[in-house]
Amino acid sequence: MRSLKTQVGIVGAGPAGLLLGQLLHLNGIDSVIVENRSRDYVIDRVRAGVLEQGTVDLLNAMGVGAGLQRAGLRHEGLYVSFGGCRHRIDLAELTGGKAITVYGQNEVVRDLIDARTMTTRPLYFEAERVSVGALHSSSPVIRFQHGGTDHEVHCDVIAGCDGFHGICRPSIPAGILTVYERSYPFGWLGILAEAAPSSDELVYTYHERGFALFSMRSPRITRLYLQVPPDEPIENWPDDAIWDEMLVRMTTRDGWRPTVGRIIQKGVTPMRSFVAAPMRYGRLFLAGDSAHIVPPTGAKGLNLAASDVLVLARALKAFYERGRTEWLDEYSDVCVRRVWKAQRFSWWMTSTLHRFADENGFNHHRQLADLDYLTSSRAAMTSLAEQYVGLPMEVSFESAGLC
Ligand code: FAD
Ligand code: PHB
Repeated sequence: MRSLKTQVGIVGAGPAGLLLGQLLHLNGIDSVIVENRSRDYVIDRVRAGVLEQGTVDLLNAMGVGAGLQRAGLRHEGLYVSFGGCRHRIDLAELTGGKAITVYGQNEVVRDLIDARTMTTRPLYFEAERVSVGALHSSSPVIRFQHGGTDHEVHCDVIAGCDGFHGICRPSIPAGILTVYERSYPFGWLGILAEAAPSSDELVYTYHERGFALFSMRSPRITRLYLQVPPDEPIENWPDDAIWDEMLVRMTTRDGWRPTVGRIIQKGVTPMRSFVAAPMRYGRLFLAGDSAHIVPPTGAKGLNLAASDVLVLARALKAFYERGRTEWLDEYSDVCVRRVWKAQRFSWWMTSTLHRFADENGFNHHRQLADLDYLTSSRAAMTSLAEQYVGLPMEVSFESAGLC
């Protein structure tokens, strides 16, 4: 048995866990990160692509923005397409110069793992049988096996950054958390294709046959999504069928369409809205997808993970520097406020842009009117723009030790 001691034990090396570890490091606070997957698996997992302005600013302020500045694609607008026409929403003009940046979650995670490695603070990959205990004591513990040896990490605080399927949230006794949940009667089939993006900006399409999304990862790689039935087996979708459906849904009357190329990755993602609150039990603090999930239509999940850990880092800094616990006590309320606004936005984007199997004509025409209003009213476009580039973070970078 190996016994270790740290200040903050972090379960999960996704965006939430790695960002928190780095924020704590910058404040001279020690942490141990425990991840059950391999380094390659964590980096190769294809997920988010859109970073809000505040997330970009945060990565830069943390000194981990070099890759982002080199390879990130700054987008000052996006398109909403319906009835065969694309309508541009000028995000920068409507928000006083803010934008989003397309930079794969893989790259964010790779950059953060590199930064962690430079700190020489511990990060265990391929940890097995991870569990947490003594959550209501002043010394909670993370237990796991690594390389055949049992490990026990004694901490002041544990951060549960282990995603929706992790072990931290289920370790909280029954009756403590209230769960709010909505599932959607569809999923997204996502592909990466070797094809130069045929638009410089994202295109969100509402089509009679269902939603489709045009995005990208680099000047040579296109990222596309299709609304499909929930739990759709990917085997039902040979590459030619995927391209046929993408082109039917996305081609606009002016002839715009995605460029076709070799598909190098494909998979199906279910859609869910989920909030578990409070995001704390004793000395366990949940952050990111372990506490909340949004459907990807609003591109908010990774960004919420970043805002959660900024709030947690501020609270832990005050705890270690001044013995203050008020911000730890406020942690959940402060995060949940922003989480619900992102939930509302993601739900609205999802319900406006997708076809629902059981919908009647009323709903269909309401959706078209919603899209018509959105793309013709400056007020409606401004509302979308300010949410899409990201509502303000609840706490300042300075309060979390960044200048
Ligand atoms: P995760 O990324 O899930 O990380 C949790 C980590 O914990 C993982 O590495 C996992 O292996 C590890 N773990 C799990 N169980 C254990 C255990 N028992 N012990 C130790 N470790 C464990 N968000 C956006 O902001 N913008 C987008 O454009 C966007 N697009 C998306 C597109 C798709 C198709 C999908 C699926 C998601 C998208 N998201 C987007 C959401 C985003 O990917 C997630 O919200 C984000 O990954 C959350 O980060 P996290 O660190 O909280 O959780
Ligand atoms: C992506 O590029 O993967 C992406 C973009 C926008 C979304 C979701 C995912 O809303």
